[in-house]
Amino acid sequence: MKLIIAALRRYLMSTGMFLIPFSFMRIWLLRICGVKIGKGCYIGFNVICDTNFSELIVIGNQVTISHNTLILAHTATPARSYLGGIYNEFKKVNISDGAWIGAKCIILPGVSIGENSMVGAGSVVSKATSPYSLYAGNPCRKIKDLCRQTLTKQLL
Ligand SMILES: CC(C)(COP(=O)(O)OP(=O)(O)OC[C@H]1O[C@@H](n2cnc3c(N)ncnc32)[C@H](O)[C@@H]1OP(=O)(O)O)[C@@H](O)C(=O)NCCC(=O)NCCS
Repeated sequence: MKLIIAALRRYLMSTGMFLIPFSFMRIWLLRICGVKIGKGCYIGFNVICDTNFSELIVIGNQVTISHNTLILAHTATPARSYLGGIYNEFKKVNISDGAWIGAKCIILPGVSIGENSMVGAGSVVSKATSPYSLYAGNPCRKIKDLCRQTLTKQLL
């Protein structure tokens, strides 16, 4: 049964997130698949949230996730291999309020993205990011602090 649900989620997400034209509809789809998403978010085309463990992904309010980003919550394989015995982890991903993940990023299992933290396009995020900061690259590194005052003014 679990396998059938996972297969259905995989199919729904991979086709739906690519084809559905509006962000609010893509958010519905992700919620149906088990992802927890707050209010006022924007989710781009083809954003894929771990199809096997979507319920481990929590997205706050006013979060932007740009096109083609991949969010992973597990490192495990059904193959009965040596490496499959070593790597067998399931970890929660948390994306805090106001964060913005650029296009084509990869967020790895266990990562927390801080409040109002910006991740540049094409980054691979393997560690937590701090609030009000810009991160970019592979591996993703902190580039600079983002001024809280400027951000607050823009929101008003
Ligand atoms: C991060 C970003 C917003 C630029 O922010 P910024 O504050 O203007 O930063 P800067 O352009 O001054 O760059 C600062 C440094 O970070 C580097 N940098 C910026 N974006 C980067 C990225 N995505 N990957 C790697 N390095 C990056 C710059 O090369 C620069 O390096 P340097 O100091 O060695 O010269 C922009 O590069 C970006 O990634 N935008 C996201 C685009 C996107 O996903 N659009 C979809 C919208 S839904």
